[in-house]
Amino acid sequence: MSIKSIAVLTSGGDSQGMNAAVRAVVRSALYRGLEVYAVQRGYYGLIHDDIRKMDLRSVGDIIQRGGTILQTARCEEFRTLEGQQKAAENLRKRGIEGVVVIGGDGSYQGAYKLSLQGIKTMGLPGTIDNDIPFTDYTIGFDTAVSIVVDAINKLRDTMTSHERSSVVEVMGRHCGDIALYAGLASGAEAILVPEVDFDLNKIATRMKDHFNAGKKHGIIVVAEGVGTGEDISKKLNEQSGLDSRVTVLGHIQRGGTPTHNDRILASRLGDFAVSQLLEGKSGKACGIIEGKLVATDIEKVVNTKKAMRMDLFELAMRLSQ
Ligand code: ADP
Ligand code: F6P
Repeated sequence: MSIKSIAVLTSGGDSQGMNAAVRAVVRSALYRGLEVYAVQRGYYGLIHDDIRKMDLRSVGDIIQRGGTILQTARCEEFRTLEGQQKAAENLRKRGIEGVVVIGGDGSYQGAYKLSLQGIKTMGLPGTIDNDIPFTDYTIGFDTAVSIVVDAINKLRDTMTSHERSSVVEVMGRHCGDIALYAGLASGAEAILVPEVDFDLNKIATRMKDHFNAGKKHGIIVVAEGVGTGEDISKKLNEQSGLDSRVTVLGHIQRGGTPTHNDRILASRLGDFAVSQLLEGKSGKACGIIEGKLVATDIEKVVNTKKAMRMDLFELAMRLSQ
């Protein structure tokens, strides 16, 4: 028998486009005749029964907003079996049979655990990091990269005037995709990511060669996972005589209005998650691969590390000579 009632929640670090995904889940579910609920503050709200019924108007005027109207949380209690059982009980009490979890890899682990409690779950990749495997892109990544590119454009102006290098620290503890895509799009001379070994002396030599060859600026994008921009800049200046300045973009990368790419991705994935639940699927992570929507076992997704696009890394290095 097909399910009649579902819920949606956002969890972990927020990302631009989460609201567009919530809207898509709610409206798609209502369109298909389902009852739909929203859980406030992720798994915390599930355990504490902070759940409300949604209608068409509940998700009006949010497609363009960053953040998440459902709030988000990191909830230690949900890591325990008792927490997961309590969450499932609260859902059953209200007759909610399926849950769409919008979040990153940690939230996916939670979604998998919830599916083991007999609740049908779907994961949507909501994170700026683009660190989820079995999807080419995550919701929020495109916006975060645009923010970094915009910042580098500005830095480039002043660096060029002073003939300096700019070290730009971006988010990404384990995955260097923000650095990679923003670096490629900005013509960065160096991109430091956790996935690729690097030698600061070689980078300094490369920067100096570029200046000697007539370049007027240098851009070094650093993913936070390899160390702080401050440290990297200091070492480059002290050891190699560069005159670099550091900029840490921080949480600016997680705010602001989502790009049309993120809104469209969120809309497609939200609708797809509802259709998967209606087909009786559970324990799946929804993603997009070469433009096509796919659903992969969430257990497989959380046990796989996303591989970096080395072709893009090499392209960035070839083109920034
Ligand atoms: P993100 O989803 O952005 O990666 P976190 O790693 O902080 O964020 O995870 C968000 C929440 O997901 C955690 O606070 C916790 O409630 C839940 N979670 C993470 N890992 C697990 C796990 N192994 N089992 C159960 N729940 C988990
Ligand atoms: O996972 C998203 C992310 O923005 C990472 O890129 C970053 O390392 C982390 O969250 C920051 O977490 P917090 O919001 O807890 O400072």
